[in-house]
Amino acid sequence: MSKVFVFDHPLIQHKLSYIRDKQTGTKEFRELVEEVAALMAFEITRDLSLEETTVETPVGPAVANRIAGKKLGVVPILRAGLGMTDGILRMIPAAKVGHVGLYRDPETLKPVEYYVKLPNDVEERDFIVIDPMLATGGSAIDAIASIKKRGATNIKLMCLVAAPEGVKALNEAHPDVDVYLAAMDEKLDDHGYIVPGLGDAGDRLFGTK
Ligand code: PRP
Ligand code: URA
Repeated sequence: MSKVFVFDHPLIQHKLSYIRDKQTGTKEFRELVEEVAALMAFEITRDLSLEETTVETPVGPAVANRIAGKKLGVVPILRAGLGMTDGILRMIPAAKVGHVGLYRDPETLKPVEYYVKLPNDVEERDFIVIDPMLATGGSAIDAIASIKKRGATNIKLMCLVAAPEGVKALNEAHPDVDVYLAAMDEKLDDHGYIVPGLGDAGDRLFGTK
C-alpha cells in the first residue's frame, strides 16, 4: 500500500498559494515551482542514511556525517516535470537525471509515451519520479511502469498537487511507490483537470497557450 505524505511546511504552502494563483505569470510561476521542488527534496531525503567520517577543520579534527553512498536518480515526466528538476538538483547535485516523455491524449485522457532515457545503472539507483500534477494518475502510472520495466526497483513519486482519484489509481497500480505531495486537492473535473489545482502545469511553466 502506497504511503502518502503531504508536506505542510509553511514555506511550501506559502509558495504553493502563489503557484495556484492565476495572476502569477510564467517567470514567477517557473521560479516558484523550482523553489518548492527544492524544499520538497529537502523533506523527501529525510530518510537517507549517514556515515561518519573525520575532517580537519582549521581548528582540528572533527567527526562529521556524510550521506552514505546512495545513488539517486531523478526522473521528470516531460514536459511539466522539467520545471521541478533544477530545484531538486540544487539539493541533490550528484543525482543523475532520466527522462520519460508522455502526454495525455485530450480526448481519451490516456497517456502516450514518446521518449525514455534513463541512466545506465538503473538497477543500482533509487528513483524520484517528478511531475507537478497527479490527476487521473495515468501518466505517473505509465512512467513508473516504464522505469520498472528497465530495472528500477526503489521508486518514490513527488508531485505538487494530486487528486484523490490519481492517488487511488497509483496505489492500485504501484502499491510499492510512496507519494509525496504539497497538496491533496478535492477532485477532478470532467476534462481530467484537478480542482482547484493550478491549471495546466506545462502551459503555465512554458508560456504555451
Ligand atoms: C500533465 C501533467 C502530468 C499529467 C497528469 O501533462 O504534467 O504529466 O498531465 O495527468 P494524469 O495524472 O491524468 O495523467 P500533459 O499530459 O498535459 O503533458 P505536458 O506536460 O506535455 O503538458
Ligand atoms: N494536467 C495538468 O497540467 N493539470 C491538471 O489539472 C491535470 C492534468
